[in-house]
Amino acid sequence: MFFAAVLLFFNISAQKFDQLAKTPPMGWNSWNKFSCDVSESLIMQMADAMISSGMKDAGYEYIVIDDCWQVSRDENGEIVADKDRFPHGMKYVADYIHSKGLKFGIYSCAGEATCQGRPGGLGHEYQDARTYAHYGVDYLKYDWCNSSTQDAKSSYTNMRDALYAAGRPIVFSICEWGSNKPWEWAGTTGHLWRTTGDIGDSWNSMIKIFDLQKDLARYAGPGHWNDPDMLEVGNGGMTTEEYKTHFTLWCMLASPLMAGNDLQSMSPETKSILMNKEVIALNQDSLGRQAVCYRDNGDYQIWMKPLANGEKAICLLNKSDEKKTVLVDFSLLAKASAGRRSGSEPLPIENYRVRDLWEHKDLVLKETAVYTDLAPHTVKAYRLIKK
Ligand code: GLA
Repeated sequence: MFFAAVLLFFNISAQKFDQLAKTPPMGWNSWNKFSCDVSESLIMQMADAMISSGMKDAGYEYIVIDDCWQVSRDENGEIVADKDRFPHGMKYVADYIHSKGLKFGIYSCAGEATCQGRPGGLGHEYQDARTYAHYGVDYLKYDWCNSSTQDAKSSYTNMRDALYAAGRPIVFSICEWGSNKPWEWAGTTGHLWRTTGDIGDSWNSMIKIFDLQKDLARYAGPGHWNDPDMLEVGNGGMTTEEYKTHFTLWCMLASPLMAGNDLQSMSPETKSILMNKEVIALNQDSLGRQAVCYRDNGDYQIWMKPLANGEKAICLLNKSDEKKTVLVDFSLLAKASAGRRSGSEPLPIENYRVRDLWEHKDLVLKETAVYTDLAPHTVKAYRLIKK
């Protein structure tokens, strides 16, 4: 009887929360812009700005505090927040975020210390999970610094089980930088997993990370996503066109969309990128497929993302420093089955209208094959919409 109960307990607890992140999580994270300079007032201002800027209406919902909110552990091993920066404690911040109709995310690390040397979760997993549940955490990013000889799969599984035992549904964001091929084992452990090292606010960093996603499409789906890291849109290191490319590619990849800029001071260009609802719709499509590379001509690539209801997104990418003029054959692209695992057969182009997702208008096609100019580092994004 006792053993049956123990077995039942482990069986029940050995899982992640299943109904979360059915589409890639969208939100804001403090790290890319503010690094360790986080505080209660900053986080609350970001929650306000998420709403006043229109980001919430565009689908962004998580406000995630990254590293440096924590300073020590007390005599009971309880994690202690920085009292100068978070004078009312973390539950107060969570309550505020919830009162705005948003969700609250927090950060810790599977190792002994976080990447900035704050206390990590090792040995405190169940205690921390209960604390996070008490705060009202909805999303946990769990890093991998100072993990020494720890085994990644068992470390993250341990935290998954701790979260499940604590009873509050929390999206579990695995951040071990792709070091242990999490795409091969993390589908039942977390809801998303980083695939690479950290992004930097430059074209070279962004496109290098993008290139590394090419073979990972088959691992992504509702509830389990590849995470090529947070967005740099609006942080100043790329041109507006490059940020459009960054955002479009992340949407094509069904990547989590975590804005990483100051939401209080967004230029009209930044807003028009982060809140392009037609591009976001590709990311949030219910089929949950990651785009695959359909044609790779080196600097020029065509990416395709199958969408629900037999529709399809097409992205032309010019990675080079030169302008390119390419012949785009929409008839061929309509029939191509790249990335289709199941679902309806592709239809001939006559059954679709072709929507340009940055121009926000339908193409008027006299011929189905058209010459198209692509400036350096730019994309064109189209949606084949059923007539
Ligand atoms: C690691 C992560 C980053 C960020 C920092 C914080 O580098 O990959 O995303 O969380 O730690 O210290």
